Amino acid sequence: MSQLVIENLEVAVKGQAILKGVNLAVNEGETVALLGPNGHGKSTLLAAIMGNPAYSVTGGSIKFDGKDILQMTPDLRSKAGLFLAMQYPSEIAGLNSADFLKAAMNAHREKPMSLFEFYNSLQNAYKDMGIPFEMSKRNLNEGFSGGEKKRNEMLQMRLLSPRIAMLDEIDSGLDVDAMQIVAKAIEKEQRRGAGFLVVSHYARLYGIIKPTRAAVLINGRVVVEGGPDIIAKIDTQGYEWIKEELGIEIEKEEGKPMNTVSIGVCATKARVDDGKK
Ligand SMILES: Nc1ncnc2c1ncn2[C@@H]1O[C@H](COP(=O)(O)OP(=O)(O)O)[C@@H](O)[C@H]1O
Ligand SMILES: [Mg+2]
Repeated sequence: MSQLVIENLEVAVKGQAILKGVNLAVNEGETVALLGPNGHGKSTLLAAIMGNPAYSVTGGSIKFDGKDILQMTPDLRSKAGLFLAMQYPSEIAGLNSADFLKAAMNAHREKPMSLFEFYNSLQNAYKDMGIPFEMSKRNLNEGFSGGEKKRNEMLQMRLLSPRIAMLDEIDSGLDVDAMQIVAKAIEKEQRRGAGFLVVSHYARLYGIIKPTRAAVLINGRVVVEGGPDIIAKIDTQGYEWIKEELGIEIEKEEGKPMNTVSIGVCATKARVDDGKK
């Protein structure tokens, strides 16, 4: 069984300490929900696990199957079985989607796939994700809508069959139908035995994919870990109870352009219903 183990992880971005000693483990076959107010380091954690060079690991360790992955480049981490569906997938001008997917899939194999085999799996994957096959001819994410970008990330997950997949707000910006498609794709990989680390603010996705555990990241640390009941508690009460029960002062994010939802509303039921009606 594969296991991703993060110990005392410290990560800095542009010289600023963001993660301040994260401890977390994800086993193959289990689904862990990662919650926390915006700007507290969830995406930073996933980016550091995948090896994004903008995120410098200044302390601690990340091991996958007992191997120190901090020594591995992102492509080797991918080949080892890790996958990240990004919160903000990049648009890559000049890179044809089908070419990109073929290169990624072949990089995971000893011998390149036959064109027939490739197109067969490509067509099935596009169909499963409810994306018109025509889109495989377009440049990667270029001009895609928010929802199309998210579904395109899931398409990559399907084709690469990771052992542990990290999904960063895969459900934001999706309408109800697209959310069902994404949830189905996750369930399929769960049945195959993959492990998941899923960041979402919405109980709706978690209600379908049923995490086995939940962890809450606040001020750059995992401060609460437990059963899925934590998700329902945050969904109805937000994060105030953590402040009260653990005496943790939740740092507010200030002037952070990338994050548009503020703490206090990001995980309340009102906002979930608002966004989906
Ligand atoms: N590429 C980056 N450049 C500058 N600051 C960043 C970058 N990525 C993250 N940060 C900062 O790190 C902090 C944590 O952000 P992030 O990990 O995106 O939080 P979350 O995903 O929990 O909302 C924020 O203060 C954010 O502005
Ligand atoms: Mg984020």
